[in-house]
Amino acid sequence: MIRLGILEGSLRRASLSRAVGRAVSGLAPTGMEAVILPGPGNLPLFNQDVLDEGMPDSVAALVDAVTAMDAVLIVTPEYNWSIPGALKNAIDWLSRVDPNPLARKAVAIWSVSPGLLGGARVHESLRQTLHSQDMLIMAKPEIQITGAKGKVDVVAGTITHPETETFLRGHLSSFAEFSSRWGRS
Ligand code: FNR
Repeated sequence: MIRLGILEGSLRRASLSRAVGRAVSGLAPTGMEAVILPGPGNLPLFNQDVLDEGMPDSVAALVDAVTAMDAVLIVTPEYNWSIPGALKNAIDWLSRVDPNPLARKAVAIWSVSPGLLGGARVHESLRQTLHSQDMLIMAKPEIQITGAKGKVDVVAGTITHPETETFLRGHLSSFAEFSSRWGRS
C-alpha cells in the first residue's frame, strides 16, 4: 500500500485547491491511500529561535505525518507566480528536521487556478525548493487545473469535470508506479 500525503497550499475554507486535494482519495488507484496532511495554517512562522526552544507541537505533528508517508502530493494555488507563503513556511520547517522527512521521498505537484494558466508558474518555483530537499520529483506530465471554478465542487470536495477526473486518475496511477519504483518510504 502506498500512503500518499496531500500537502495543501491554500488555507481558505472555500479553496479550489483544497477541494481538489480532498477529491484525491476518491481518485487514487487500488493500492494507494490518500491522507490529508496537517495544514500549513497550523504552523508558526519559521524562526530558528522558536526551534531552538523546542519544536512546536504543530510542527512535530506535520513531521510525524510526513514521515509516515511513502509519497507526497502538493495541491496548491500559485501566488504571485510563486509558492504561497504558508506552503513555503511548511517546507522550511520540514527542512530543518534531522533526518529530513522529505529527502528521497517521491513528490508530485498539482496546481489549481480559476485562471487560464492553471497556476503553471508555481511548478518551477516548487521544483527548485523540492530539489533542495533531495525529493524525487515526478515532473511530467505537469498537472495544471485551469478554470477550476467550473471543474470543482468546493462543498463536496469532488471533481465535476469528467475529462479532468480521468486525467487526474491516470496521473495518480503513474505516480503510484513512480513512487513504488523510486521513492523512499
Ligand atoms: C492569487 N491568484 C493567482 N492566480 C494565478 O493563477 N497566478 C497568480 O500568480 C496568482 N497570484 C495570487 C496571489 C494572491 C496573494 C492571491 C490571494 C491570489 C489567484 C488565485 O489563483 C485564486 O485566488 C485561487 O482561487 C486561490 O486558490 P484557492 O484558495 O482557491 O485554492
